[in-house]
Amino acid sequence: MKNLYELHYFEVPTVMKHRLGASEELGGELANLGVKKPLVVTDKGIVDSGILDKVLQPLKEQGVEWELFADVVFNPPLENVAAVTRSYIDNNCDGLVAVGGGSPMDVAKASGVEIAHGEPVLEYECAEGKKELTRRVPPLVCLPTTSGTGSEVTMWAVITDPAREYKFNVGGPLIAPHLALVDPLLTVSMPAHVTAGTGMDALSHAIECYTCAYAQPQTDAVALLSIEYISQYLRRAVAYSQDLEARYYMSMASMLAGLSYGAASAGAGHAIAQTMGGMFPVHHGEAVAATLGPVMEYNWMGDPTKYARIAQALGVDTHGLSEGEAALAGVEEIYCLTEDIEIPTLREMGIGEEDIDRLAQEAANDPQTIGNPRDMTLEGYKKIYQNCFQI
Ligand SMILES: [Fe+2]
Repeated sequence: MKNLYELHYFEVPTVMKHRLGASEELGGELANLGVKKPLVVTDKGIVDSGILDKVLQPLKEQGVEWELFADVVFNPPLENVAAVTRSYIDNNCDGLVAVGGGSPMDVAKASGVEIAHGEPVLEYECAEGKKELTRRVPPLVCLPTTSGTGSEVTMWAVITDPAREYKFNVGGPLIAPHLALVDPLLTVSMPAHVTAGTGMDALSHAIECYTCAYAQPQTDAVALLSIEYISQYLRRAVAYSQDLEARYYMSMASMLAGLSYGAASAGAGHAIAQTMGGMFPVHHGEAVAATLGPVMEYNWMGDPTKYARIAQALGVDTHGLSEGEAALAGVEEIYCLTEDIEIPTLREMGIGEEDIDRLAQEAANDPQTIGNPRDMTLEGYKKIYQNCFQI
């Protein structure tokens, strides 16, 4: 911890329940929360894959009524949030159920802010001059279908403002889901490249939060175990989709990383990935993964002790290595993992070296830069981006 006089807090308003098949509990859990008519928020992919039917079947059998909003889009914009809010109000719903990856969960949270406050979520952006949240979102149950975002336990939602080509954060304890119902069976139909990208997103949450200025013992503990699980199970989950043990531990890793992310901030990696996502139609996890190695290579000198510990959590044999050597061996392992699970490069995502100046400037403006373990400058971001194009 960098400042022992600063008051740190660790608050987890979300109840976490998990097992293989946990989604069968949804009806009972809604009743516990007093919800009689939830709005189910999801996307087309979840409907087409049959996951939604799997989640809703027990509700049907129990005679639970619901409304459906299945039009959440990738990198969800403000109008997507407003459409969910309208649907909730028009259909007299009394709770929210989010089924999906980060997008449906974040849209449900952001819509919860609009429903509770009666104003557009943009008024509550986490930025200077904006309003503080004052009311709890309606009862919200999140069922993650990927193992990456951790949004089921975080106090954040990330929404795109198309007018500014910018992804903004809204958050605080009042936005946290009431229940994270984690069923790893909902993740087995994820294609390998989605498993890879989302898994690296979880890994970056854990690494960035473990090393950021706001880290504290509680977040360190969950982040380290998350890194260990991911180093043991991500390759397995990518290689064999039906590996239930790997799926279970990846779900746990994502949730643990979300707990560290939910309480702390991130750093340069998320400043980069989030601003890139506002400017290009890239998958958040892939953007994070393609830049994590260069970010760590830049950052490790800011906290060699913690970076050496990360290497150990990644399963690197650090015996006989100096702290600096161990830290760099950990960075090398990240490059190997990224290659093994076939994360596309920035160039393959349609980004070119001519975009570096603009991307670096946006990242430098992002508020998450503030928690980074090494002082960040515009030149630092350019260096990281240039390194990304050497891979
Ligand atoms: Fe992320």
